Amino acid sequence: MNKKTEFIDLGERGRYNPKNKLNDLTGKEWIKFTKSWFIHRPKKRNDDEILHPAKFPESLVKDFIEFFTKTNGWVLDPFSGTGSALIAAGELNRNAVGIELQKKYHSISEKRIAASNFRSSVKSVMGSAFNLKKVLEQNGFGEIKFDYVITSPPYWNQLERNNIRQKDRKEKGLDTFYSAEPEDIGNVKEYEEFIEKQAQIFDQVYGVLKNRGYLTIITNNIYFNGRLYPLAYDTAISLTRRGKKSWILKDEKIWLQDDKPLIALGINNAWVGNRHHQYCLIFRKEENE
Ligand SMILES: C[S@@+](CC[C@H](N)C(=O)[O-])C[C@H]1O[C@@H](n2cnc3c(N)ncnc32)[C@H](O)[C@@H]1O
Repeated sequence: MNKKTEFIDLGERGRYNPKNKLNDLTGKEWIKFTKSWFIHRPKKRNDDEILHPAKFPESLVKDFIEFFTKTNGWVLDPFSGTGSALIAAGELNRNAVGIELQKKYHSISEKRIAASNFRSSVKSVMGSAFNLKKVLEQNGFGEIKFDYVITSPPYWNQLERNNIRQKDRKEKGLDTFYSAEPEDIGNVKEYEEFIEKQAQIFDQVYGVLKNRGYLTIITNNIYFNGRLYPLAYDTAISLTRRGKKSWILKDEKIWLQDDKPLIALGINNAWVGNRHHQYCLIFRKEENE
């Protein structure tokens, strides 16, 4: 006969099942996160963080890290920018490593980590995600099998476009693209090539994630030159067709940005949408053991 589960009562949080294999959440908290969309209004960014053109909010990443890891788990962000995932992981007592190509963003991460007092190991390293394995080895993380990867790669050439929002950033002296370096995946000219190169990076991520671990990619379909490029969909498809390194696509969660102002796009002329949502794609590594 099956032994009865001894739940732990955590008051308002609900009841925690000690047999929970994935996270430290109660059943009530678990269900809440499984909704396929969410509205998130992040707090205003500080001067350092605003320099980066596409930082995601810590509060958003925190919800994902809390769902896909337990305390003391290991989190990786291969495109870590100003370190939002690292800060979120540290605040949740998870260990984390971030890889960032640009010194200026890596330095912001380091500054933010130094100003925190994390109990866990949280580190930003400089390098290219194209050499992911080597960069991790060189920084002493070669033996780590990560529990979870959460990241937001450049949205192809989206930052190159001189649209209204970019014009505003330019006038304020803020970055409108990451760098001119060829290693920067945001500088790949052709869309199809971008999709392939991005998948090659996630082949490497596959190698350092533990089996049955999850990967979340925050990305979007993007409007460019009068048409929509289905970057989020192509990201989902491309990662599931990588031979032995194929990811299993589990779901999408849609981040609704209802705090973004509407801009008069194409008015009285033609359809141009105000795209106020992003995709959080959830994959899993599932190999037969
Ligand atoms: C969308 S941003 C990530 C922002 C980050 N989540 C944050 O909150 O600050 C993408 C980042 O990828 C970096 N990047 C581009 N190509 C890279 C590469 N080959 N290896 C590592 N980082 C790269 C860019 O410099 C940029 O900071």
